[in-house]
Amino acid sequence: MVWCKSIDEIIDMKFICNPMQDKIKEIREQSNAFEIIDLESAEQYRLKFLVKKGLINLLFQEFRSVEPEKKKKFGAELNVLKKELESKHKEGLQSLNKSESNEDNTSLDLPAYFNDLGSRHPISHTIEHMTEIFERLGFDVVSGPEIEDDWHNFSALNFPKNHPARDMQDTFFVDKDHALRTHTSSVQVRLMENTKPPIRSIMPGRVYRNEAISARSNCFFHQVEGLYIDEEVSFSDLKQTLYQFVQEFFGPDTKVRFRASYFPFTEPSAEMDIYLGLETESDARLTKGTGWLEILGCGMVDVNVLENCGIDPSKYTGFAFGLGVDRIAMLKYGVKDLRTFFYNDKRFLSQFSSL
Ligand code: DAH
Repeated sequence: MVWCKSIDEIIDMKFICNPMQDKIKEIREQSNAFEIIDLESAEQYRLKFLVKKGLINLLFQEFRSVEPEKKKKFGAELNVLKKELESKHKEGLQSLNKSESNEDNTSLDLPAYFNDLGSRHPISHTIEHMTEIFERLGFDVVSGPEIEDDWHNFSALNFPKNHPARDMQDTFFVDKDHALRTHTSSVQVRLMENTKPPIRSIMPGRVYRNEAISARSNCFFHQVEGLYIDEEVSFSDLKQTLYQFVQEFFGPDTKVRFRASYFPFTEPSAEMDIYLGLETESDARLTKGTGWLEILGCGMVDVNVLENCGIDPSKYTGFAFGLGVDRIAMLKYGVKDLRTFFYNDKRFLSQFSSL
């Protein structure tokens, strides 16, 4: 038995024993235990607690007979409880609505949403197609820097300083000693410097020249360089490799011709043309009325170049070639203006989405 209670505690005990206090507590517990999991249980909750004859209103009716001095305390508690019950019901309904709308999004009836997959660039695709053919012929793929020094872009390739041959390619200089590479032949040099023969590689990449921009030429374009160095490599190996490539890329009946040419880094040098004919206006324009289109330069690697790169010319010989990618891509896809490849216009690029 507890004897020494303060007046306040005695008053509190009276509340605890008070039936109104117990009822508020009990209704709160019942509400807490009630789970609103679907529309039906939400309605049951409303009927049990919130309607005119629900528990909270019954309690308000009982409240009328509470002694006046306790009315203030119980009135406040009842109002708090009523708000609690109402917001539990409201929040229950809201979360049901939310999960219902989520279900809508994953409805199996909705039409499938397709992502726009984009497309591979026609120039990349052309390079990939070329690479695939050369890989089948036993070539591997090598790359090199786009900013080059004078040695790799010119000097090692037998362009003497101040030699007019350097004027063949108008160069973008980055500083006194470096330029944007004017051809992928610079990668040949790097490869020969670092690799012992046999070497059989192609070197695709972007090159830059300070040229007037038009439908047929741009200040940057793409090349696929090829290099084969071994003992007893001959010009007929070069021809056979290129014939094979052309037949695979353009079709078995494609006519080709070699023309003698000049490059400082090959001796003898040649250019190869393919025959397009003169049937269409664009063939005539592209071939300048001859029916023939030049697609590459090639030749036997010059002895000086082999020596510059530390390869013994008495033991090894080799051939090299440089294919122009952009022109071939124009031909392949019937593109009349080279510049359209690089506008990044989605309407143009999306035409290649099936590649
Ligand atoms: N580098 C030459 C150019 O850009 C193309 C070329 C010609 C590359 C002959 C070669 C080659 O490897 O042997 O015009």
